[in-house]
Amino acid sequence: MSDKCFYITTPIYYVNDKPHIGHAYTSLACDVKNRFMKLDGYETKFLTGTDEHGQKVAKSAETKGIDPQSFTDEVSMSFRNLAKDMNFQYDDFIRTTEERHKKAVRFLWEKLKANGYIYLDKYSGWYSTRDEAFYAESELVDGRAPTGAPVEWVEEESYFFALSKFQEKLLKFYEDNEDFIKPKSRYNEVLSFVKSGLTDLSISRTTFDWGIKVPGNEKHVIYVWLDALTNYISALDYPEDKNKEFAKFWPHAVHVVGKDILRFHTIYWPAFLMAADLAPPKQVFAHGWWTNDGQKISKSLGNVIDPLVLKEKYGLDQTRYFLLKEVPFGSDGNFSHESMVARINSELANNIGNLIQRTVSMVVKNCDSNVPKQSNNTEELLDHGYGLIEKIREKFDNMQFSQVLDLILEFSSKCNIYIDAKAPWTLKKTDPEAMENVLYNLLESIRIIGIILQPFIPESAKRILDILNVEQRDFTVLLPQFALKSGNRVNSPEIIFKKYEEKIAEANS
Ligand code: MSP
Repeated sequence: MSDKCFYITTPIYYVNDKPHIGHAYTSLACDVKNRFMKLDGYETKFLTGTDEHGQKVAKSAETKGIDPQSFTDEVSMSFRNLAKDMNFQYDDFIRTTEERHKKAVRFLWEKLKANGYIYLDKYSGWYSTRDEAFYAESELVDGRAPTGAPVEWVEEESYFFALSKFQEKLLKFYEDNEDFIKPKSRYNEVLSFVKSGLTDLSISRTTFDWGIKVPGNEKHVIYVWLDALTNYISALDYPEDKNKEFAKFWPHAVHVVGKDILRFHTIYWPAFLMAADLAPPKQVFAHGWWTNDGQKISKSLGNVIDPLVLKEKYGLDQTRYFLLKEVPFGSDGNFSHESMVARINSELANNIGNLIQRTVSMVVKNCDSNVPKQSNNTEELLDHGYGLIEKIREKFDNMQFSQVLDLILEFSSKCNIYIDAKAPWTLKKTDPEAMENVLYNLLESIRIIGIILQPFIPESAKRILDILNVEQRDFTVLLPQFALKSGNRVNSPEIIFKKYEEKIAEANS
């Protein structure tokens, strides 16, 4: 089996409400990583979708006075539209109400049962519908879930999963696979939680019926997290695997999740898989949460950020860029208009945009729109450019998107310093050959920047590469032998990154 395979997943989103910045953020990170891997020669698969069962969704449908299936059809569509609007290039969109998914969940259940890990008992304890999670009395803080969500007392017959049998196996697995949970601080958090002891997990409910029925006992619906987590393998056609997708991609699976759902992905999920004689995924990467001007984002505070509003106001690529540049992936981030504008203006417009504008205008004016001649290929600038991809690969391994962008900006700044120091506008009169050489090196640097920027800002990068008429755009061409050819046409520059100008009215308001 080829090692150059890659499988990345977003959490499947609850369809209780319309998409917000948190959803867009997780998917964006997956999209950028996936595009990077594809350009780097991997066969990739990017999965996203919607989580449609459970009490939370059932209640939202009820409040709206719509039957749950029509309700989920409608909201699920808004997540598909979000992906399209944000230019997320997913390969598959799974819905937990689809038959292909339900089949896999039932199969997994039977397997867990046959392997002796499911038993029938009675659950009495706390449940939070908002978190779709069971909590022990000892976990409550001031009568609420540790997440701040309200809880209710539940007493019902329930099937249990023998999670306690997996404590040692999980600890051994974490020990042998230190990269399973990223970042490291999250790894340590999970490790100490598991060390403190695991109790068996309730995995069915009887007080509502919006879910997948337990095989052989229709009074029960399967716990929504056991149902939802299975999406990662049902989308690979588990268990049938007619096209060998499961065999090909599962060993390379990376789940990107918010920090709030770490436990489900790093404790329950590998335990379910081990119990079904399946391997856990390769990695779970947890990112932080966004706040809005320092405040927690919540519907009740009315400060929910709609990604489409950002797109409308600042531009799509600008929004994509900002979200990944503003904070190290893994840490919490704060959204502010000021910071967005500062980044658009100084990093995109003044740094990268200006470099392109200045260089290409000079080539159009002074070289008849042809790629000029390189007379001296010993300059350090291009060595720096060709060396970038190695460093960037390393950062991508750890999903350090902001550091990748730092490296690109640093190179672009270096190009701007180079143009100022060499002053091709002066060389034009004193040494035209040297002017051509300087402009060549700058154009070639822009080719490198354009290629590396593709995963982050695909539309703008395309426009940069279109100006240079670059044909091959994957990472294999980040080498001197694929450099721009003198004499090739260059198109007139168009402004790639506009500055964000505060409207007077807005500034005065
Ligand atoms: N349905 C579950 C996931 C099941 S996966 C088998 C779920 N859905 S969710 O819609 O509530 O959340 C999806 C993702 O959005 C989570 O990764 C969550 O962390 C992320 N975010 C929700 N609000 C967020 C912020 N304010 N900031 C960043 N991400 C946040 O959980």
